[in-house]
Parts: sequence; structure tokens; C-alpha cells
Amino acid sequence: MTDNLGKIVVLASGRGTNLQALIDASKENYFNGYISLVISDNPRAYALERARLAGIPTVVLDYASFPSKKEYEKKLLTVLQEENPDLICLAGYMRILGKEIIKSFPHKIMNIHPSLLPAFPGLEAQKQAVEYGVKVSGCTVHFVDEGMDTGPIILQECCPVEDYDTPESLAERILQHEHRIYKEAVKLFLEGRLEVKGRKVLRKR
Ligand code: GRF
Repeated sequence: MTDNLGKIVVLASGRGTNLQALIDASKENYFNGYISLVISDNPRAYALERARLAGIPTVVLDYASFPSKKEYEKKLLTVLQEENPDLICLAGYMRILGKEIIKSFPHKIMNIHPSLLPAFPGLEAQKQAVEYGVKVSGCTVHFVDEGMDTGPIILQECCPVEDYDTPESLAERILQHEHRIYKEAVKLFLEGRLEVKGRKVLRKR
């Protein structure tokens, strides 16, 4: 992977600022890879527009048009297997990936989450942090396993939670950190510098 460009597939459901950060990083050769495909479960996701503007192929698997989650996952797995990426990045992808997909790409799927895991997994992590009253929060890039935001942690970055933060103001602050550590995690991965040992991800020098 170090000589050749790593092939990345991004899955996104929404506005896609993390996708944009990865697109920009790839254009600047921040990492040794390119985004070959963007897949969305939501035909209205602005992430799709970002991909198109960058000339990246897109596949829309409109979740609502599938008879069941099983059928949707089957199709998603087929698309991923055909694309055969080195790395799959979830970037605001709002579904839990099924077992089959995770098993097919062991330690090749990453996610970005807007809290310091294991605190505040799941939806509305920034709102959870504000309501809990923590003074520090941040974001986490982790490998995806079968749990909800439970996979081995690759990188984390923290930021303060201010007294009068709203979930929105905190989300905005955290997002700046997300955009930085996601591209860094991708870079480390594509350089072959991440070694997973049980729950730990070791960074090879
Ligand atoms: C980010 O906060 C990310 O951590 C979470 O969903 C949000 C997606 O934002 N998983 P965007 O679509 O990348 O702008």
C-alpha cells in the first residue's frame, strides 16, 4: 500500500464536511490515497454533491427503497466487494453496519465520532456531553466493530466544553478537530502504521 495509492470508499448520509476534509486531504496529497467511490443511503445527502463536484463516482442506495435492512446490507456488501477498497471510511453514516460487512473488511473500516469514546456513544453525542456537564469533550476515530461506537480507538483529540455551550456550538468546535484527526488516521492507515492488538491500536514508528 505504501507504493501504490490506497483506495478509499466513503459512506456518508448527510452534509459531508468530513468527506470534504478527506477530499481536500487527498487532493493535497496529505495521504497516499484517493477516494474511489462515495456511497450514500440518503439520496438527498449533500455529501453526494460534494463528491460530484470533486469528480468522485457516487452510488446511492436509497434505504427507503429496500424491502428490509437485510436486503440493503446485501446490496451494500456487493457494491463494496466489487469496489474492493483498502479502506472504508464512515463519515456521518447514520446506520450501524451489519456483521457480514464488518467481517468482510476486518480492521479496514473506520468511523469518526464526536465525543471522547467510550463517553457518549450513539446519537447526539454533543448534546449528551452538554447535558452531562463535562468540561472537556472531543472526537474519536476508531475501527468499526459490531457494537455501537465500540471499536478499537485510533486517534482522539479533545477540546473544552464552555459553560454556555449549546449542542450546536460544541458540535462546531469539535468538527474542526474531526477534520484534522480523520485525515491523520487515514494517513497512518495507508502508511501501514496501525497495528491492532486486541482493543489497542498501536502506532508503528
Ligand atoms: C460528525 O459530527 C461525525 O463525527 C458524526 O456525524 C457528523 C457528520 O458530519 N459521525 P459531516 O456529515 O461529516 O459534516
